Amino acid sequence: MKLTHKPTPTTLPRTALLAVLAPERSRPALPRGVELPPAALRTFKGEFREIRLADATRGSAARVLLVGLGPRKAVDAERVRRAAAIAVQKAENIGAASLAILVADDVAKLGGGAEDVGCAASEGALMGAYRYDLGKSKPKPRKLKSACTMARGAAFARGARRGRVLGEANCFARDLQNQAGNQITPRALAAAAQGLARRSARITCRALDEAAMKKLGMGLLLGVSAGSREPARLIHLKYRPKGRSKGRVALVGKGLTFDAGGISLKPSARMDEMRYDMSGGAAVLGAFHALASIDVPFEVHGIVPSSENLPDGGATKPGDVHRALDGTTVEVANTDAEGRLILADALAYAVKKVAPDTIIDLATLTGAVVVGLGHEVTGLFATTTKLRDALTRAGEAVGERVWPLPLLDEHLENLKSGPADLRNICTPEMGGGSIAGASFLSHFVGGVEWCHLDIAGTAWGQKNRDYVGGTGGTGVGARLLIRTLLDRA
Ligand code: BES
Ligand code: MN
Ligand code: ZN
Repeated sequence: MKLTHKPTPTTLPRTALLAVLAPERSRPALPRGVELPPAALRTFKGEFREIRLADATRGSAARVLLVGLGPRKAVDAERVRRAAAIAVQKAENIGAASLAILVADDVAKLGGGAEDVGCAASEGALMGAYRYDLGKSKPKPRKLKSACTMARGAAFARGARRGRVLGEANCFARDLQNQAGNQITPRALAAAAQGLARRSARITCRALDEAAMKKLGMGLLLGVSAGSREPARLIHLKYRPKGRSKGRVALVGKGLTFDAGGISLKPSARMDEMRYDMSGGAAVLGAFHALASIDVPFEVHGIVPSSENLPDGGATKPGDVHRALDGTTVEVANTDAEGRLILADALAYAVKKVAPDTIIDLATLTGAVVVGLGHEVTGLFATTTKLRDALTRAGEAVGERVWPLPLLDEHLENLKSGPADLRNICTPEMGGGSIAGASFLSHFVGGVEWCHLDIAGTAWGQKNRDYVGGTGGTGVGARLLIRTLLDRA
């Protein structure tokens, strides 16, 4: 589906379907010339997610779809995002080839400003139209070929453009997530990253192979990869800003392309879901997909350690000791706590090679965060309140909410090892599995401002929220990262 924007909402182009986003208790604002049967308007209350489809009695739209936004004071960008998604899905279902989504001035104002509402409308349309069909030999053709948002003003148009970039970034991340473990291997993920560098002159990409990682002393990542025949990669993307850089940010994403647990083998039920264990890496690549067509005034590094975690004869055994890039020795008490191992080396690499002002990492790190926070909110650990608040605000704005959890010195003490410096797990009595994972990572960031996002609950398995959730990956993180960078600019 091709998405465009028209800044002239009063003159409607010929379209198979016109969708009008309408709050409660106000007559939906139809473009000039479009008329509906009076009964359709009379029975429509405008409740959130309520829809009413009617044939137009006059005008250049064949049919009209009213989509409710709920009470005026409840209208926000998230509701617009969802309403736009509902519109594209309905259009596809009824076989409309073209769709215009009309957003009236008062809706833009109620939703918190034309720019953010324009962004949300575009995002909702693109994300709502997402379907994973890379795995199909003959993908079903889409009926809906083109959609446009229609609203007045330069701010809305600017937002709509940004929303297209972010919506596409989300879909790109989802396509990476949804591919099977044998399709997205570490080498395939690295190839996808190389592809991003070809989209923009400001992005470069290097993918370190195992020999290069060995030279750097990345014993933790290589220890995880040892049980697999697929060679690991360390992906390093770099975005150079147009003007003077206002600082350096490193985005680090767990790119574990399949997590069987290693010798600490996982149970077989739902093990297939561990294809999503590269979702943090997908979020970082998604953010770079957006950076290919959006300006931020920072030097941005994307670092994705990528490996499989499998149990062959060369695999790391419980109790084995490996040495990290920064020299720390680690007792691998449980080979299934592998995410923190590959991330530790990636974080140490970022500190040493990039020397960033800020590091943000994303990882499907712990099952415990799913228990604690469920599927609708990402666990956040931050070393500064400023960064915590920035991510919290950005999460609200994009509909990817995050919630803070603590990082204390006592937690790190629980990870002391007898035979080595650190163990990669706490004992079960200690509990707090997500905190243990985050604490382990904290050892490797030195004094750099850092936050860790545990996306194990939000990367997939969300209930359907119109534009995201249901089956498959959610692409969580890509839009959140870009919003965080834009807010910081
Ligand atoms: N990738 C998993 C975390 C995970 C589990 C994400 C379930 C989503 C759903 C991670 O590598 C892992 O296995 N973590 C272990 C850690 C434990 C061994 C301390 C876990 O959470 O069970
Ligand atoms: Mn694991
Ligand atoms: Zn894992």
